[in-house]
Amino acid sequence: MTFSETILRWYAENGRDLPWRRTRDPYAVWLSEIILQQTRVAQGRAYWERFLERFPTVEDLAAAPEDEVMRLWQGLGYYSRARNLHAAARQIVALGGFPDTLEGIRSLKGVGDYTAAAIGSIAFALPAAVVDGNVYRVLARHFGIATPVGTTEAKKEFTALAQHLLPADDPAAFNQGMMDFGATLCTPVNPACLTCPLQDSCQAFRTGRVELLPVKQGVARPVERHLTYVYVRFQGKTAIRRRGPGDIWQGLWEPLLVGLAPTGSHLVAGHVKHQLTHRTLFTDFYLWEPAEQPSLPEGYVWIEETELDAYAKPRLFELLLEKL
Ligand code: ADE
Ligand code: SF4
Repeated sequence: MTFSETILRWYAENGRDLPWRRTRDPYAVWLSEIILQQTRVAQGRAYWERFLERFPTVEDLAAAPEDEVMRLWQGLGYYSRARNLHAAARQIVALGGFPDTLEGIRSLKGVGDYTAAAIGSIAFALPAAVVDGNVYRVLARHFGIATPVGTTEAKKEFTALAQHLLPADDPAAFNQGMMDFGATLCTPVNPACLTCPLQDSCQAFRTGRVELLPVKQGVARPVERHLTYVYVRFQGKTAIRRRGPGDIWQGLWEPLLVGLAPTGSHLVAGHVKHQLTHRTLFTDFYLWEPAEQPSLPEGYVWIEETELDAYAKPRLFELLLEKL
């Protein structure tokens, strides 16, 4: 299954049942997206319901005195949203109806790229990918992208990738699936990798970099990291790879780094603490002696175990080898 198929299936089975997902009325969808720009779903829901009750149509909202709109908004914060909402309602009425193109939606007051893509895809099935913090996180981890978020380069790269992944036949489900996936499963802290349907293809998971991604500009890397190493032994050979740039131990060789130890492996040493200058590592070290030669993830090579001495290794690897 492709990435997008997995997201769609996961969303069909696990998507949150939210009231604005039961309508395609662009006015109601727009209202939900403006509320949710800076407000959590749990809090925003009651406001959305109250607004629709008081102003069932965009004409009602446009005709209301600003004071009344502001009063209904009270408690949501970021009050410029309410003023923009009111102004945009008047724009929509002046246009003779809700705009149904991305550019038209984007021209409404208070609507940026993200909100335009959300409204366009949900209300009009326009093929526009939403790119928010959730989407950055899921994509950065799944595809192993270390471009610092918050840069124009990242915006370009992640937008292009999300757009490429967007299924043309159901952009609304994909976009909202990505939102929910990032909000409930691939969360900033303690993501549910062990039950994640993307686990097998997730680059971050496979290489122990979940805690490192996405990279945030100007934010220190985590001081504690957890690594799971597997020493694989097959007919006197083992698998190692040379570490690349942009992380610890550049140029040194290490054993198999995994998200989850393979079945049949056994723990040689658990929670081994190792202090680097700016970081504390905790490592689980497994020995795996498979009956058949496993295929290796990208970058790893088979070498004779007797040749291990010839490779430059991090001190931690040497210490782990002593525990075998
Ligand atoms: N946050 C922003 N838009 C959303 C939506 N349509 N569903 C859930 N959360 C959201
Ligand atoms: Fe996110 Fe973990 Fe799933 Fe990868 S395996 S997509 S990091 S939850």
